[in-house]
Amino acid sequence: MIGLLRSPGKISPVQWWADAVVYQIYVRSFSDSDDDGVGDLEGIRMRLGYLELLGVDALWLTPFYTSPMADHGYDVADPRDVDPVFGDLDTFDRLLEGAHEHGLRVTIDLVPNHSSSEHEWFRAALDSAPGSPERARYHFLPGRGPDGDEPPNNWTSVFGGPAWTRVPSPDGSGGEWYLHLFAPEQPDLNWTNPEVRADLEKTLRFWLDRGVDGFRIDVAHGMSKPEGLPDAENPDVALLINTDGDPRFDDDDVHDVHRMIRAVLDEYPDRMAVGEVWVGDDERFARYVRPDELHLGFNFRLVRAPFDAAAVRTAIEHSLAAVATVAASPTWTLSNHDVSRPVTRYGGGELGAARARAMTLVELALPGVVYLYNGEELGLPDVDLPDAVLQDPVWERSGHTERGRDSYRIPVPWEDGAPGYGFTGGDPWLPMPIEYGRLTAADQLEDTGSMLSLVRRAVELRKTHPGFRGGELEWFGAPEGCLAFRRVGTTLVCALNTSAAPVPLPPGEVLLASGPLDGARLPPNTACWLV
Ligand code: NOJ
Repeated sequence: MIGLLRSPGKISPVQWWADAVVYQIYVRSFSDSDDDGVGDLEGIRMRLGYLELLGVDALWLTPFYTSPMADHGYDVADPRDVDPVFGDLDTFDRLLEGAHEHGLRVTIDLVPNHSSSEHEWFRAALDSAPGSPERARYHFLPGRGPDGDEPPNNWTSVFGGPAWTRVPSPDGSGGEWYLHLFAPEQPDLNWTNPEVRADLEKTLRFWLDRGVDGFRIDVAHGMSKPEGLPDAENPDVALLINTDGDPRFDDDDVHDVHRMIRAVLDEYPDRMAVGEVWVGDDERFARYVRPDELHLGFNFRLVRAPFDAAAVRTAIEHSLAAVATVAASPTWTLSNHDVSRPVTRYGGGELGAARARAMTLVELALPGVVYLYNGEELGLPDVDLPDAVLQDPVWERSGHTERGRDSYRIPVPWEDGAPGYGFTGGDPWLPMPIEYGRLTAADQLEDTGSMLSLVRRAVELRKTHPGFRGGELEWFGAPEGCLAFRRVGTTLVCALNTSAAPVPLPPGEVLLASGPLDGARLPPNTACWLV
C-alpha cells in the first residue's frame, strides 16, 4: 500500500461526547420488565450491567413520553411525562441514577417538529375557529380550489400520501387543512409562534434539571418552514432520503431554534445535543454544528453507502470534511430504527454478517462519535414479517406498497426460549423469529468468536489503545476494492477489503480482525486493525 492522503479537519476530544460510543435503545424493543410484551424503562435498568460490559459511554433512549403510539412514541402528547406502557417519572429517575452509577450517560429523544394529535394544544386547535391563537400553534390553512377542497400546497408526507388533512370547522362547515410532514396523528408545530419555542425550552429544562446528559433532536432539519409554504418542485420523496432543495426541510430559520437549544444547554455543564440531520450537502450540513448550534449531527452518508471501498471512503471523506470547517466531531452510524440492519443491507446471511463485522471495525476506527443501535452488537438481521403484524404507519399510509420499519425494530433476544427470548415473559409486540434464538446475548457472551465479543473487544481497544487518540485521518493507497487509513500521530491502521480476492495486509501487527485472515492476506469481506 502506498501514498498518503491527509483528510482535512482536527477534533480535540475534550468533552465526554467528542469520541464517545453511544448505544441507541429503541425502548419498546430492548427489555420488558412487566411481561406486557413491550420494552420499558425498568427493563433497561435491569440490563445496565450488560451495557457496562459492552463498554459504551452513553445511551440514547427513543421517546418514552405520553403518546397514543401512532408512530411508536414519535407522536408526543405530553413531552414532560412518561407513558404508562414505559413506566413513570420515578422509574425514569431510578434508571438515570442507576445508569450514572454504572458510568453510563443518558441522552433522550426530543421531538420538536410535531406533536401528537392528542396533545392538548392540538385538541384545543380543533375546537377553535380558524384564525384563533389555538390554531396558530400549528399550520392550519384554507384549501385551494373553488371549494377549498384541495390541499394548500403539493407537499407529501414522508410516510406517504398528502402532507395535509382537512378538518371540519367547529361550526360544521368545510374547514381548514393542517400540515403533517409525517402521519396525520403528528401535526407540525408552527415554529414562528413564540409559545412553541417557550414550550420546548420548558421541556429542555424539565429533563436537564432531572439530570439527563443530553438530547437527540428528532428531525433537526425540520421545524422551520419557508414563508408562504411554496409548492415543492419534486413532491415525490421517499422516506428519509437526502432532502437537498426540498422546501419541507432545511429552512434557513431552523438555525435560530438550534441556537436557542444550545443557549439553554450551555447553562448546564457537560450536556450535549445531537441532531438527526438528513441533509446531504456538506456545507449546509455543517451549519447545524456551528459552535453556537448543536454539538453533533448524525451524518447518514455511511449508512447509505453500499459495501464498496470507494463508496465507503467517499462517505467518510465527506462526513469529515463537513464537520472540519466548524471544528465539530464527526458522528457515525451504520444502523438505527429507521434503516435496514447492516447484516441484511450488506447481503444477508453469512455474507451480510461478515460484511457487518468488517464495517463495525471501520466505524469504530474512525475519529469522532460512534452510535450503535440495539441488536447491532448481536448482528441481528431484518426479519420478514407477515402483513397482519405490521405496525409502522408507513404500511397504511403507502397503501400497502411500503412495508415500513418494523422488520428492523424486532425485540432484542437475550436468551433462548420462544416466544419472548428473555426480552419478555409475555408475547413480544412484534413476533421474534427462531433465527433470533441463535443470536442471543447470553450465547454470544460465552462465544469468543461472536459478533458481540468482536464489538466488546473493539470498543475496549478504542477506549484504551493509544492508536485511537489521533483526531485526524490519513489515507493509504490501496488495491482496487480496498481502503486503508491511519489515525494521524499513531500507528493504528484500519484496512478493509470489499473486493472478491484476498489482498496483502498492510505492514504491522494485527490488533483485531473481523474474520479469519488468510496468512499475510486480508480476505474479501474482512477488515482488520494493525499497529
Ligand atoms: C425520525 C425518527 O427517527 C422516526 O422514527 C420518526 O418516525 C420520524 N422522525 C418522525 O418523528
